[in-house]
Amino acid sequence: MGDREISPSFGVNPGIAAQSILLGATEKGLGGCIIASIKKTELAQSLDLSTRFEILLVLALGKPKETVVLDAVGPDGDIKYWRDSEGVHHVPKRSLDDIIIG
Ligand SMILES: Cc1cc2nc3c(=O)[nH]c(=O)nc-3n(C[C@H](O)[C@H](O)[C@H](O)COP(=O)(O)O)c2cc1C
Repeated sequence: MGDREISPSFGVNPGIAAQSILLGATEKGLGGCIIASIKKTELAQSLDLSTRFEILLVLALGKPKETVVLDAVGPDGDIKYWRDSEGVHHVPKRSLDDIIIG
């Protein structure tokens, strides 16, 4: 949440904070997911939240049920996730060489 008594807008800071929290959670063996598609009004009501605070992101945190492995994207460029016969969740990721321009 952003504190409107500190700032009227929050820029990229919630994203930086969310990533840091998830990196720390991963270090502790937890898994997580950043969620920005939130029913903010309903959530603020159900939390009885003061208007001082603006909901920016929700982080789901928990013990991972699945084993996830990162794979290099193949020549077809397909980035769809898939599960193998043992239930391992494969997540294709582009290489650093492919995403860094220069
Ligand atoms: C700022 C931000 C907001 C996001 N919001 C949502 C969301 O509302 N719903 C959703 O399913 N995934 C959302 N995601 C994507 C997931 O958090 C996650 O990054 C995505 O599933 C990719 O996971 P991976 O990095 O393990 O491949 C968001 C990601 C970011 C960085």
